[in-house]
Amino acid sequence: MPETAIDLTKLMKEAVGRAAAARVQSNSIVGLGTGSTTAYALQFIGERLQNGELSNVVGIPTSFQAEVLARKYGIPLTTLDVVDRIDIAIDGADEVDPQKNLIKGGGAAHTREKIVDALADVFLVVVDSGKLVENLGSTFLLPVEVIPMALTPVMRALEKLGGQPELRMGVKKAGPVVTDQGNLVIDVKFDRIDNPAELEKTINNLPGVLENGLFVGVADVVLVGEVIDGKPSVREF
Ligand code: A5P
Repeated sequence: MPETAIDLTKLMKEAVGRAAAARVQSNSIVGLGTGSTTAYALQFIGERLQNGELSNVVGIPTSFQAEVLARKYGIPLTTLDVVDRIDIAIDGADEVDPQKNLIKGGGAAHTREKIVDALADVFLVVVDSGKLVENLGSTFLLPVEVIPMALTPVMRALEKLGGQPELRMGVKKAGPVVTDQGNLVIDVKFDRIDNPAELEKTINNLPGVLENGLFVGVADVVLVGEVIDGKPSVREF
C-alpha cells in the first residue's frame, strides 16, 4: 500500500476507534476486541478513564494483545468467570457485508472474539471503509482455528467443501502462527460464500476445528471510518 493510503487508513481507524470509545458508559462491562482499529478504542477508553469522564469500567480481553493494551491504557480487567453479562463489546473486522455479517480472524483471535462478542448486549464493530464488501470472502481468506493434530484431515475436508486452504505462517517467526490457545490457523479461499450461516456451522462441525472467522448475525452496530475531503469522519452503517 502506498504511504498516503496507509496514512488515510490510520486516520479512519483512529476516528472510528474514538467514536466507539465515546459510546462506552460508566458502570459497564466492556468486551475488548483485537486488532489495530480496536487498539485506538482501547486507547481512548483509557483516556476517558484517566480524565474522569468515565468510571467503574471493567474490560474482558479477547486476546493476549487486548490484555496487554488494556494494562497499558489503565483499563481494569475481569474474566467471564466473574461477570454474568457484557454490556458492550468493541471489535474490528476484516470484512463486513450488507447484512452486517463479518469475517474476522486476521489477527488469529477470532475464537475468543466470538465468545466475548456474542455474549455482549451490544456488539459494536469498528472498521475503515475498505472493509465493506458485497460478498464475504471476496477480499479476505476465511480463518479457521484448528487443533494441531487435526491439521491435515481438516485441510482435506476444507478442500472437499470447495476451499483452497493454506496454513498461516508467522512473520518474523519461523514456522506457523500459533494462536493464544496453542493452535494453528488455516486460511481458506472460497470462490463465493453464498450462505455464510451454513458455512459457519459446516466448518465448525469438522472434528478438530475450534472456530472459524464467520460471524453471522452477531453484530449489532457497525461504525465505519471514512476520509472525506481529506478529513476523517464516522458513519453508522
Ligand atoms: C483479530 O483476529 C481480528 O478479528 C481483528 O479484529 C480484525 O483482523 C481487524 O483487525 P484490524 O482492525 O487490525 O484491521
